[in-house]
Amino acid sequence: MSKTPSIQAIKGMNDILPPTSARWQWLEDQVRCVMGSFAYRNARTPIMEQVQLYTRGLGEVTDIVEKEMYSFQDRQDKHGDADHLALRPEGTAGLVRAVAEHNLLYDGGKRLFYMGPMFRRERPQRGRYRQFHQIGAEALGFGGPEADAEMILLAVALWRALGIKNWRLELNSLGQPDERRAHREALIAYFEQHQEQLDEDARRRLHSNPLRILDTKNPAMQALVDGAPKLLDYLGAASQQHFAAVQAMLRASGVEWRINPRLVRGLDYYNLTVFEFITDSLGAQGTICGGGRYDYLVEQIGGKPAPAVGWAMGVERVLELLQEEGMAVPEPVPDAYAVIPDAAALPAVMPCLQALRAAGVAVQMHASSGQADAGMGSMKSQLKRADASGARFALIFGAQELAEGQITVKALRDGAGQQSRQPLADAAAWAATLKSPDSAQ
Ligand code: HAM
Repeated sequence: MSKTPSIQAIKGMNDILPPTSARWQWLEDQVRCVMGSFAYRNARTPIMEQVQLYTRGLGEVTDIVEKEMYSFQDRQDKHGDADHLALRPEGTAGLVRAVAEHNLLYDGGKRLFYMGPMFRRERPQRGRYRQFHQIGAEALGFGGPEADAEMILLAVALWRALGIKNWRLELNSLGQPDERRAHREALIAYFEQHQEQLDEDARRRLHSNPLRILDTKNPAMQALVDGAPKLLDYLGAASQQHFAAVQAMLRASGVEWRINPRLVRGLDYYNLTVFEFITDSLGAQGTICGGGRYDYLVEQIGGKPAPAVGWAMGVERVLELLQEEGMAVPEPVPDAYAVIPDAAALPAVMPCLQALRAAGVAVQMHASSGQADAGMGSMKSQLKRADASGARFALIFGAQELAEGQITVKALRDGAGQQSRQPLADAAAWAATLKSPDSAQ
């Protein structure tokens, strides 16, 4: 009989399993805490949206929309109509849609954060996946430079909480649409003068998105790009003031940055401040967080005009950076492991364990393989498992103890081997003796 072929995960889409998942949970806990300290509130939007949200919101000629989106035609409804849907490649457009749809800004600005999977059909490599996770923060309805500075300080607070040290901040201002138009015309004129030095990608983008040519990775075009007109030279007084004010607040907060005039970001919705946090520890995919101001997106998606600013960080990259920096995250372990030599004891075991758990003790119960005549397994093998679980105590539900209405509590770590008896009933009364000193309850 031929073996059924095994099914594997999709390339670039990863399973997150123990023990790694503990690192994810730890990171998410830190994020919730820092977000709370800045008074950001959680928002959750669907993983799928109408494809127009992204073509309209992110820009038709961005890599994401042109090449990387997982989009498909849904099944036809009874009228023969079918929606064109996409798995979200990022979180900002969906959140803006939700904010506009629910008129969330009716009573003033909102500060929101989200965490979740995003999907881009990129070439998988270290730090670049097809399903990856972002943590994002968006402040909507705030147009002043203080919101930009707060956003950046929020990310800095997060690096501090996570213990990440190897990062640098790059800043740029993309100005306003009319300033960009003037710069764009100057750019097109400049690149047209040097047509012969443009690669195929640049030629294609020359009239559709010349700003993105500045982002080229082609070494042969670096000199050309270095000599191109700089957007910062085309900013009007208001844009310059906004950028200067953001920098003044960062300076006052002790944050260092570098202005990178070629930082343009891969999405079209930005204006004024854009920024990226970059690390040298991760090779080519060193951008751990990116964002900026997007004052026209809410309107573009159909909401009442409202300014906004935000960022998103790549969770996989940040976790990899933590690994590189040698950050140890404690593995969760149960407080106690219930050893049950005979299945006949189970009716007495269950309520006792429930009472302990309700009192805040983490208890792992021994369970059988279910194979006929294997029973619960020997006492020795159960104690071995209790030890391997990392628990500090074994709770032994032996027949003799149970006959006396008691169980044996055996220490497995501090004072290993020490034993005491506790009453089976009223477990809540002695539950506290099992809890770890740093447990939450
Ligand atoms: P983004 O620069 O496209 O911006 O993505 C933000 C971050 O997500 C990147 O800096 C990177 O850490 C991570 N990332 C992106 N693609 C991948 C991938 N294929 N694999 C692993 N990590 C990845 C945005 O998405 C904007 N929505 C950010 C924003 C929020 N702007 C304003 N508000």
